[in-house]
Amino acid sequence: MLEVQDLEVRYGRIGAVVDVSLRVDKDEIVGLMGPNGAGKSSVIKSIIGLVKPTRGRISFMNKDIQDLATEDIIVAGIAMAPEGRELFPYLTVEENLLMGAIGSRSWKAREDRLEFAYSIFPRLKERKKQIAKSLSGGEQQMLTIARALMSDPKLLLVDEPSLGLSPKVTSLVFKLLKSIREEGITILLADQNARRILDTCDRAYLIENGRIVKEGRTEDLKEDKTIKEVYLGL
Ligand SMILES: Nc1ncnc2c1ncn2[C@@H]1O[C@H](COP(=O)(O)OP(=O)(O)O)[C@@H](O)[C@H]1O
Ligand SMILES: [Mg+2]
Repeated sequence: MLEVQDLEVRYGRIGAVVDVSLRVDKDEIVGLMGPNGAGKSSVIKSIIGLVKPTRGRISFMNKDIQDLATEDIIVAGIAMAPEGRELFPYLTVEENLLMGAIGSRSWKAREDRLEFAYSIFPRLKERKKQIAKSLSGGEQQMLTIARALMSDPKLLLVDEPSLGLSPKVTSLVFKLLKSIREEGITILLADQNARRILDTCDRAYLIENGRIVKEGRTEDLKEDKTIKEVYLGL
């Protein structure tokens, strides 16, 4: 479904992504894990068109998208829940959700998307009139993901959902991501938390200093000696 080939991202003289190739097949949930500063967000932002890669190819459903504008990439079927959430703090939950309804052809389509988002996140429905700022961290993260679902994506990119959340709330959010995948939405999930990635995803890539250094099925990566020692503290 998604194929990233030989991606390079530079910010001035800094090479944030040196050479990244990865793929996500339909109905998979794929992880991109690695330490802070490794280049995860740069990869995610390149896919959604917020960062312009200096080299490489990104194709989605057999079409090159690396030169498209973000809104066209969203219409093509990719959505992103950004790192740091970037909600509209003084808009209500429902208003934030409607901001994500890019490309909806009708009010009916928007209503259907709202119902879908609320079916996955019933807590957001209970709080739909509250302003985003008044939500807990976990609820804000749910709202970020729900807003991304409003554009009816085929592929959902989620960047660092565990940021600032307790272990208990993190595991709830990751569980909800699995249920989104069960609804037929393919997911690429970037997070520093290797344990969560390995427990949630089908396959994963480990990125360090802008390069993919390991990849494979998560059940195999869990047995990898370096990953165990460096990332799982075993
Ligand atoms: N807008 C930017 N300008 C300059 N350097 C940046 C910018 N964004 C990220 N970087 C640098 O690029 C590298 C990769 O960052 P990032 O993609 O955010 O990694 P991660 O998401 O894995 O933490 C880091 O060294 C970071 O400091
Ligand atoms: Mg990041």
